[in-house]
Amino acid sequence: TESTVQAFRASLLHFHADPAFTADAHTWIEDGLLVVEDGRVKAAGDHAALLPTLPPGAPVADYRGKIICPGFIDTHIHFPQTDMIASPAPGLLPWLDTYTFPTERRFEDPAHGRATADFFLDELLRNGTTTALVYCTVHPGSVDALFEASAARRLRMGGGKVLMDRHCPDFLRDSADMRDSQALIERWHGKGRAMYAITPRFAPTSTEAQLVATGELAKAYPDTFIQTHVAENQDECAWVGELFPQRRSYLEVYEHYGLMRPRAMFGHCIWLDDTDFARMADTGAAISHCPTSNLFLGSGLFDLARADNAGAPVSLGTDVGAGTSFSMLQTMNEAYKVARLKGSYLPALRMFYLATLGAARSMRLEGTIGNFVPGAEADFIVLDPKATPLLARRTAHSDALEETLFALALLGDDRAIQATYALGRRVHERGAAAG
Ligand code: GUN
Ligand code: FE
Repeated sequence: TESTVQAFRASLLHFHADPAFTADAHTWIEDGLLVVEDGRVKAAGDHAALLPTLPPGAPVADYRGKIICPGFIDTHIHFPQTDMIASPAPGLLPWLDTYTFPTERRFEDPAHGRATADFFLDELLRNGTTTALVYCTVHPGSVDALFEASAARRLRMGGGKVLMDRHCPDFLRDSADMRDSQALIERWHGKGRAMYAITPRFAPTSTEAQLVATGELAKAYPDTFIQTHVAENQDECAWVGELFPQRRSYLEVYEHYGLMRPRAMFGHCIWLDDTDFARMADTGAAISHCPTSNLFLGSGLFDLARADNAGAPVSLGTDVGAGTSFSMLQTMNEAYKVARLKGSYLPALRMFYLATLGAARSMRLEGTIGNFVPGAEADFIVLDPKATPLLARRTAHSDALEETLFALALLGDDRAIQATYALGRRVHERGAAAG
């Protein structure tokens, strides 16, 4: 087939691979052109320089006054919890019992799974999120639902079947038998843009036998992802201490069973100590910081400076349905405030880094998604820095990049996402009829 080149004119923002996360690691092109060929980035640069390189007749979308950046990456979210977002409970453990388990039970019906996955992915796209690491339920059909719905939209999505075989209702209990997970890996991992994530819910809901089997599975499939929760809540930490008295720390439970390695993503990490943070850096595992969830459930305040000092990779997760927003902009907003309460300062440029290239690096997907290097998959969003009357008024006071991005993070939400593209194809446009 014939190759297709298309281009997008806007201000361009993306990041280089700078492990120091410093502000000078970004590229900002005021009058930029993003050139896409066959769903991949061909070039990102000055409009004036690149326009003459386009083949005759190549379409150029005019987004002047807008900002194009890589699609957001949400490294921790539960798609089956979409329908129970904003359910009140005094903390994590009662919230799980009261709402989460009954809600997840409904996914024994594959039709419910597919309908929820369709809504969920469209909601991500409305919020500018093009890739996520997604928890499904214990039901293998919930994984098929997620990956079928994401293939229909040509999205790069990670996800997997929850593993839990104790301390949960009988209707959600599985076992140490990994055949379902293995079959799902064989069916989905690397098929199109699907990425499998081995998903033990958290240490308290797995027997030692299940953790052993999970570690063996993770070793047999070293390029799959692993995702779980760790050190989210103090009651949970005390419980893990009782269940695994022989382990030095909660995180060390996972390390003991072979679950710390590159592509392992640990949600929350609030109550880790310095040894834990150092193990995170040494093993190549990564942290998903979920501020809206942590504030909502009263779990605690993540210590970003401590993670940075240890060199542990950090990205951002919404953690819907304990998280209160699908918006990575609103997640940045609350991450900023949590950092302030912990005495550190999170610049807007770094927030955008964390939600794009920082997440891609944490997931070992650099070069595939997260920035506009040539050959990267063309997943990007069009941000409107004047999306609301208040933003328009606010940004009129200054054109400095840091201030514009800061106002977008603090005041923006789905309204600031003018359009979302996956593999160069528009998958969301603000104001367009749904469907
Ligand atoms: N810990 C174990 N399961 C869950 C969950 O579904 N959500 C959150 N936030 N924490 C958990
Ligand atoms: Fe979670």
